[in-house]
Amino acid sequence: QPHHKFAEEKADVDMQQCRAKGAAPGLKVAVLGAAGGIGQPLSLLLKINPLVATLNLYDVVNTPGVTADLSHTNTSTVVRGFGKEHLDAALEGVDLVIIPAGVPRKPGMTRDDLFNINAGIVRTLCEGIARSCPKAVVNIISNPVNSTVPIAAEVFKKAGIYDPKRLLGVTTLDVVRANTFVAEVIGVDPREVSVPVVGGHAGITILPILSQVNPPFTFTKEETEYLTNRIQNGGTEVVEAKAGAGSATLSMAYAAAKFADANLRALRGETGVVECSFVASEVTELPYFASKVRLGRSGIEEIFPLGPLNDFERKGLEKLKGELRSSIEKGVNFIKGK
Ligand code: NAI
Repeated sequence: QPHHKFAEEKADVDMQQCRAKGAAPGLKVAVLGAAGGIGQPLSLLLKINPLVATLNLYDVVNTPGVTADLSHTNTSTVVRGFGKEHLDAALEGVDLVIIPAGVPRKPGMTRDDLFNINAGIVRTLCEGIARSCPKAVVNIISNPVNSTVPIAAEVFKKAGIYDPKRLLGVTTLDVVRANTFVAEVIGVDPREVSVPVVGGHAGITILPILSQVNPPFTFTKEETEYLTNRIQNGGTEVVEAKAGAGSATLSMAYAAAKFADANLRALRGETGVVECSFVASEVTELPYFASKVRLGRSGIEEIFPLGPLNDFERKGLEKLKGELRSSIEKGVNFIKGK
C-alpha cells in the first residue's frame, strides 16, 4: 500500500533529521492487539503523543482499517499497520511494546477465567519480542496480569534475553480508579489526588494504600472499607454495566497511555518518573509484586518499599499473598511445565 510505504520512508527521514539536528530521535512504539476495544483508543492516544515518532499497530484482524483511519490525523506520529503474519516486522527496532491482546471478561467471570486463552497469546507475542526487539521495554495489559507477567518473564528467560527492569505489568487503571473514587470522597480535583495501589491486579490482590494518600487525608473506617471495596471491584463494575460487551476499554486506554507516556519520558531521560506497576520484586517474599517504581533510560531503576501501612492495610497485605502466589505460579508453570 503506497501510503504505508510513504509513511515508512517518512519515519526514516524524520529519524535522520533528528539526528542531524543533534536531537534525540523520537521513539518507536508497537501496540499488539491494536484493533481491540483497548487497542484502538490506546493507539489514538499514542498517535497524539509527541514522544512517539513511529507507531506500529499489530493485530490478527482489522489492522488495515484502524491504521488507515488513524493515519489521517494530522499529528507528527507515523502509523503503520501489520497483520497476523507480520509480528516480527511490527516489532523490529521498537523501544516500547504495549500488549492489550486477548479476550476480556464477561459478567460472572474472574480475570483468572481468561487464563486458558490469554496465556497462549501472551506467550506467542513475547516470543516475537525475543526475536525482534529483545531490548524493548514491555508493558503487559492482557489479563490475568498476575499470571501473564510471569509468563512473559519465563518466555524471555527461555530465549536468554530476560531483563526484569524492562518487563512491567500495567496496574495504572487501579491507580486511576483509586484517585477518582478518593477525590469524590474528599471533594477535590481527581488530578490532584495520588493513591499508591500495590499487590497485584485482580480482586483482593489489588491493595490501595489509602493511609498514604496525597493530599494527606484521614478516612473513617466506613470510608476505608467503601473505597477499598470499590477500587478492588472497579473492573467488575464496568463488566456488569457492559453486560456481556466486554470490560473496561476507554478508562484502560487512558491509563495505558498515561503509563506508556511515563515509560517514554523516562526513556528520553526525564528523571523522577514514578508509577505503580506489577514487576519482579523483592519488596515482599513473593517474586512479583506491584508497588511504586522509578523509571529511567533502561526501564525500572528503583523499586520502592511499601512504606508504613496501617492495621487494615497490613491485614489486606497478608490476605492477598496466597492468591497472588498461586496466580504467579500458574503463569510460571504454563511455560516451565512444558
Ligand atoms: P478485545 O477483545 O476488544 O480486543 C482484543 C484484541 O486482541 C482483538 O482485536 C483481537 O483480535 C486481538 N488479538 C487476539 N489474539 C491476538 C494475537 N495472537 N495477537 C494479536 N492480537 C490478538 O479486548 P479488550 O477489551 O481490548 O481487552 C484486552 C485485554 O486487556 C483483555 O485480556 C482484558 O482482560 C485486558 N484488560 C486489562 C486491564 C488492566 O488493567 N490491565 C483492564 C481491562 C482489560
